[in-house]
Amino acid sequence: MLIKTLKSSDLKESDITPENVYMNRRELLKGMGFLGAGVLLTNSASAKAIDWFNKDEVAQFKTTPLKYKTDANADKLILTPEHKVISHNNFYEFGAQKHQPAELSQGFKVNPWQLTIGGECDKPLTLDYDDLFKIFPLREEVRRERCVEAWSMVVPWIGFSLADLLKKVSPNSSAKYVVFETLHDPEQMPGQADRRLGGGIAYPYVEGLRIDEAMNPLTLMSVGLYGKTLPPQNGAPIRLVVPWKYGFKSIKSIVSIKLVSEQPQTTWHKLAPREYGFYANVNPNHDHPRWSQASERRITSGGLFSRNRIETLPFNGYGEEVADMYKGMNLNKYY
Ligand code: MTE
Repeated sequence: MLIKTLKSSDLKESDITPENVYMNRRELLKGMGFLGAGVLLTNSASAKAIDWFNKDEVAQFKTTPLKYKTDANADKLILTPEHKVISHNNFYEFGAQKHQPAELSQGFKVNPWQLTIGGECDKPLTLDYDDLFKIFPLREEVRRERCVEAWSMVVPWIGFSLADLLKKVSPNSSAKYVVFETLHDPEQMPGQADRRLGGGIAYPYVEGLRIDEAMNPLTLMSVGLYGKTLPPQNGAPIRLVVPWKYGFKSIKSIVSIKLVSEQPQTTWHKLAPREYGFYANVNPNHDHPRWSQASERRITSGGLFSRNRIETLPFNGYGEEVADMYKGMNLNKYY
């Protein structure tokens, strides 16, 4: 349902994508020849963006209620409304514009699913769809999510610790990093079939963590949000949530987790190493080469025009839990 109607001519580009940050990221892809001018926000695209942002209900995908332990600290943060969490997405496999994943992923088949965990370990494991929800008791974790594009949300994720999963496979002494891969299925993921739609990324999407980061209790394997299974646009059936790092580390729809001895090549880092580091820890003192990271726009219940600009915190406010892992490291060099 549309709750507010605005003319596209009322809009400035910065109202849709404050500080032009999102456009800037897309400029990179355009410069690389992957996004045509037609994909940049024209007036009709702006109108569409307004429609999408003001919708009360977005996805038609059927989600299932989950049983989980609630987060005792949940009320310390104001949650981003569910309809915004599931309609303002980055999931380039379903299109590089924010509204596209919710629109283009509704036929995505998440069951059957297989997640393999292997590499440098003694007891490799394969999980089927049902196992994802049964292997460990599920818990809710309300976390800030800070995108590298300088917007943020607060999301009630549901899941279990990556550490618990990794302990099950008994990593050996060569396991220094963990590498994650998203499903590669161009028939189901139109952005993988069409390089322009998919932002020119060489799929599958790959991310990685150092083993101590992967073992940190904050690192969550999420199978749900807002009390239900994940909708496809948020990474169904299982995704990573690494709340002290920029959102691009939190890889979606994972089919493979591998323990490895060397730092892996990861998707955004490979595409533009000066702009997207391997570590990608949220850091207000290290700007992106083309925009400031000192502040962010918190997406709340306000409309498209609400500002909600807040200061960005080192490690996204989770320094107490994670800063020790980076003691003595130059965070401007290892950004
Ligand atoms: N995972 C895959 N496979 N493909 C993507 O394009 N985008 C990342 C991350 N995980 C992405 C991904 C980025 S840039 C962000 S900010 C978060 O997902 C967004 O998660 P959300 O849409 O659930 O808010």
